[in-house]
Amino acid sequence: SVPPFRSAGDVLEDNPVGKLKVFIYDLPRKYNKKMVTKDPRCLNHMFAAEIFMHRFLLSSAVRTLKPKEADWFYIPVYTTCDLTPAGLPLPFKSPRVMRSSIQYISNKWPFWNRTDGADHFFVVPHDFGACFHYQEEKAIERGILPLLRRATLVQTFGQENHVCLKEGSIIIPPFAPPQKMQAHLIPRDTPRSIFVYFRGLFYDTGNDPEGGYYARGARASLWENFKNNPLFDISTDHPATYYEDMQRAVFCLCPLGWAPWSPRLVEAVVFGCIPVIIADDIVLPFADAIPWEEIGVFVEEKDVPKLDTILTSMPIEDILRKQRLLANPSMKQAMLFPQPAQPRDAFHQILNGLARKLPHPEGVYLPPSEKHLNWTAGPVGDLKPW
Ligand SMILES: *[C@@H]1O[C@H](CO)[C@@H](O)[C@H](O)[C@H]1NC(C)=O
Ligand SMILES: *[C@@H]1O[C@H](CO)[C@@H](O)[C@H](O)[C@H]1NC(C)=O
Repeated sequence: SVPPFRSAGDVLEDNPVGKLKVFIYDLPRKYNKKMVTKDPRCLNHMFAAEIFMHRFLLSSAVRTLKPKEADWFYIPVYTTCDLTPAGLPLPFKSPRVMRSSIQYISNKWPFWNRTDGADHFFVVPHDFGACFHYQEEKAIERGILPLLRRATLVQTFGQENHVCLKEGSIIIPPFAPPQKMQAHLIPRDTPRSIFVYFRGLFYDTGNDPEGGYYARGARASLWENFKNNPLFDISTDHPATYYEDMQRAVFCLCPLGWAPWSPRLVEAVVFGCIPVIIADDIVLPFADAIPWEEIGVFVEEKDVPKLDTILTSMPIEDILRKQRLLANPSMKQAMLFPQPAQPRDAFHQILNGLARKLPHPEGVYLPPSEKHLNWTAGPVGDLKPW
């Protein structure tokens, strides 16, 4: 349910403590900690929020050790920590890992079956959340894992009217390393001498040799239209001064890639560079608390060729207003998962989101005979034990 309108700043200041109690299942280490020991690279990639959220909750004031008094149940399973040798978090095993963890808790405790998971939440930060595939068509074909159909999903993926985003999900920012970003801060009064900045791929010839799928062609169009435009500092080279350059830029492009979002969104906000969001129908992180329309610029994918006109014709007062809003420390804090956690950071915004979903609607608690989940639905490969 949508809370009555308050200004965005107010919502960011909310303190979740006292508004909800979370019970954390104690799972065998193979579902979480052991994966990190085996491959610590998963502490640094853009999906690492699942690990830090677990650590945060373990010592959080909202934690309860008494499941009978819990408002929410959390299953700490890491679905993006099983990396390929090259370090890519491809979620092929995730459906089996997830299913296995749900089987484990539903056999050992009575709480899952009581609601078929409707008062449980999961952090599923991969590209297409609980659809568990990195390619959009495949993700859509799979759909959300059937066992998660009643649970609340905390995920980075957000796009309107998409099978991989179910109603009631909480959209979070991708993980960007807070200490590393902090270490690259330059004086705040440094002039912003770069007009438009972007570093990243324009084509993904490895995975999309014919072109057109990757970024639905928007990044290719960016390159073809503006590679020689002096106002556009765009390139595939990733310089050592990447973070400093963003602090010297007025506009930072945040086009879709394979997914609608990328860590650039977080970086732009943290570095006070106006995010230019090119991803039709994107649902942005904590959109009920962060005034994205006011701090960013939204450009439709088909309008990429007009980007120079759109940005150069923006009134200077609008630019200054957006920069002032971006300078608000609460805005930056909400984008980050710092260690240790701090008030108003992304951890607290997730808890605020869960608290605002309380009380649970009627119909959450099922009569003993009523079942909503089909334990044998989904691709047969997913049903193999893990
Ligand atoms: C919960 O339901 C599952 C699937 O129907 C069943 O296997 C399990 O034993 C049940 N758990 C409890 C604690 O009754
Ligand atoms: C559960 O899913 C399987 C596989 O799709 C299907 O064959 C079966 O009929 C479903 N069961 C129910 C009760 O809907």
